[in-house]
Amino acid sequence: MRGTMEPYRIKVVEPIPFTTLEERKRALIAAEWNLFRIPSHLVTIDLLTDSGVTAMSAHQWAGLLDGDEAYAGARSFRRLDEVVRDLTGLPHVIPTHQGRAAEKLLFEAVVRAGNTVPGNTHFDTTRANLEHAGARAVDLPVATARRPEVEHAFKGNIDVTALEELLTEVPSGSVPMVIMTVTSNGCGGQPVSLENLRHVRQACDRHGVLLFLDAARFAENAWLIREREPDQLERSPKAIAREMFDLSDGCLMSAKKDGLVNIGGFLALRDASIAERLRRIMVLGEGFPTYGGLAGRDLEAMATGLEEVLDPGYLADRILQVRTLGDKMHRHGVPTVRPPGGHAIYVDSRAFAPHLSPLDFPGQAISCALYLHAGIRSVEIGQLMNGRRKPDGTEDPVDLDLVRLAIPRRVYTTRHLDYVAEALCEIHAQRGMLTPLEIVEEPTSLRHFGARLRPKGARVS
Ligand code: F0G
Repeated sequence: MRGTMEPYRIKVVEPIPFTTLEERKRALIAAEWNLFRIPSHLVTIDLLTDSGVTAMSAHQWAGLLDGDEAYAGARSFRRLDEVVRDLTGLPHVIPTHQGRAAEKLLFEAVVRAGNTVPGNTHFDTTRANLEHAGARAVDLPVATARRPEVEHAFKGNIDVTALEELLTEVPSGSVPMVIMTVTSNGCGGQPVSLENLRHVRQACDRHGVLLFLDAARFAENAWLIREREPDQLERSPKAIAREMFDLSDGCLMSAKKDGLVNIGGFLALRDASIAERLRRIMVLGEGFPTYGGLAGRDLEAMATGLEEVLDPGYLADRILQVRTLGDKMHRHGVPTVRPPGGHAIYVDSRAFAPHLSPLDFPGQAISCALYLHAGIRSVEIGQLMNGRRKPDGTEDPVDLDLVRLAIPRRVYTTRHLDYVAEALCEIHAQRGMLTPLEIVEEPTSLRHFGARLRPKGARVS
């Protein structure tokens, strides 16, 4: 008999904070309706992100002691190098302290001002780093990606026709690479199919363009391919992941997700000359090429995490946990991005709170209400995160307004997530009470991190 239960037992526990409504009210006012400013000791269930919040295994903790802290040529680097090459088949492995450091390095080496970099949907730091390099980041998701309620197996796919058109229209040499984010965080943690990756590969070959994977959630993508793509059910997640990497010229990795670590990342590439350029640049800011801003113990934990993440028992449980939360909310009429993706459930804010205008930050209003009601922290991925001010100070509604409930790996139990589903259903039942928000002050880039908000029409104190 094999029941559907967590495939691990708990060896170390960490108490979670419980707060009163009064404490949460005060915290929200002090944070100016920006949950990034809430101290974690006032958060009961933290679903702000699935990044860097993984519970490590006993094997990984043991690896921390075993890490080799040699400045150059450490054993822990050699182990990571072997694990990544075995996983990806990419011969050049360069550790970085996290995903965005890999982005910054890669773009510095191969992207020029005026370039265009298309993708299925760039993550916000990828977009910000591309724009910082003077490039244009273009999202070309399939049409169903913008329709939360539509059940489609591969909403993370890129629109291949639109990609072909773009590659044909722009001056030759102005697209250094296409980036496919697996799974697509910006589109609801939805997977990309092997078939789609094959088409992108062909398009890249036709136009002489590199194909990079943003592989932060490669294992979840592989598992969803196994479940959803015809003829994949008998294959191991490792074999599927390898085929994904085989179709690419390289990958950017935030190991804080599917590397199952609290810090870490890497770049892996096929091209020796780009790798050499990266190694030269990285010494200036990130560190020597065999540690890349990390301690030897971090490299050790990352190597082990990359092996553990492909365990079919782990992946089956992980995806089931997320799906169970999503299906429970769906059954109770809470509008979410369907079907559930890999790492998070995304609430469709406009369908949830249709009485609010898209420019009233409905996602942020829901996110704040969820904190106030139940001490649960989520993140808005909508108008606040993706809206852009025009020169006259106004902004257009963004395509999709979502609230992400990201599920940390191996951290919360089914009962914790039942509490989350219940809280969301209760807020949905009282959705008419949600009030519009407005921005008081915002930074010019990545505004969701620093913006200060208030209920619309509130008196300025
Ligand atoms: N790419 C994707 C798809 C991501 O989701 C992230 C981070 C990054 C790159 C950047 O990696 O944080 O290690 O520098 N996503 C986190 C999130 C922050 O909450 O989704 P990083």
